[in-house]
Amino acid sequence: MEWGMANRMAQLIQSDGHALFLPVDHGYFQGPTRRLEEPRKTIEPLLPYADAIFITRGVLRSSVDPDNTRPIILRVSGGTSMVGKDLANEGITTSMEEAIRLNASAVGISIFVGSDYEKESLLNLSKLVDEGERYGIPVMAVTAVGKELEKRDARYLALSSRIAAELGARVVKTYWCEDFGRVAKGCPVPVIMAGGPQVDTELEVFEFIYDGMQKGAIGVNLGRNIWQNDFPVAMIKAIRAIIHQGATAEDAQEIYNHEVEELYVNCKEQLKALGVRLQGRHTGGFDGHYKKKHILRVIPMEDALGNQYLTIDVKKADDSWIGEKLVNDKQTLDKVFDDYIKPMIAELSREK
Ligand code: 5RP
Repeated sequence: MEWGMANRMAQLIQSDGHALFLPVDHGYFQGPTRRLEEPRKTIEPLLPYADAIFITRGVLRSSVDPDNTRPIILRVSGGTSMVGKDLANEGITTSMEEAIRLNASAVGISIFVGSDYEKESLLNLSKLVDEGERYGIPVMAVTAVGKELEKRDARYLALSSRIAAELGARVVKTYWCEDFGRVAKGCPVPVIMAGGPQVDTELEVFEFIYDGMQKGAIGVNLGRNIWQNDFPVAMIKAIRAIIHQGATAEDAQEIYNHEVEELYVNCKEQLKALGVRLQGRHTGGFDGHYKKKHILRVIPMEDALGNQYLTIDVKKADDSWIGEKLVNDKQTLDKVFDDYIKPMIAELSREK
């Protein structure tokens, strides 16, 4: 392998042979996907835990700082949308010259095996591989299923993944499925797993990642099941432990729970440091008093899907409440403190 190609592959796949890619490319056909409406806000807290990000050039330029990033896998296929006729009818949207200008470590393209556009998407992949090999840029092939999520079985995914590898993809991104070993075994290049739409519980995500890793995947390219979770940072840390530290699904669940608990403890400590007197209210929740005024309440919540988060209600000067500030990671906790709690304490401390 040429030095440049080998170097880029090493940026993506870590020295343990594993990789955690964070895809935030969904908007290229879905528009402002839930919890990716403002990409910078979604990406920034997760960036330190990702080995690479999968992203389009538009979101890269607008929402990622060039001096504070991770290796880039540039999404270079598209040209279709959720409301258009056929998601499979993609073309190449971004030139190799642009990928080089953006200092991409790899480019990514979808293939649609079995669709009306099978041939076009496979020839697009081949063309991209020719160009990538010329410049030492690896191509990641995405075995896409469009809206036909039911296609995600071992027979179909093994077929698509093998074809992608045969056409020269250096990495293949596919879905986890029952009998995943069949997919990984039949694909002679590294295979990583996407998550698809958000599933019901964190444990299900940890279980399929663990299972896929045991059966030959080298990691994940997992988006919605991380950043649509109520605690995305807790989620990515837990997944990272499976990918890079050999954690089991149960270990990952413990890491996730611990991260959530830490947030709660952190919140209590910050309030105490501001001079807020805390009073237990009911299981786990508490009220905060400052200068004998009841100024806020913090309540750990669990939604119908079992996702946990903190809600912080803050009382305003006129005694009305600014209801439910959702807190799901350290950054949002700090933001609630900076935007609401600290100014309120400052105002109250000026009162006689
Ligand atoms: C979207 C993609 C995504 O990168 C891929 O589907 C992974 O994201 P998710 O885990 O949310 O499915 O190719 O076009």
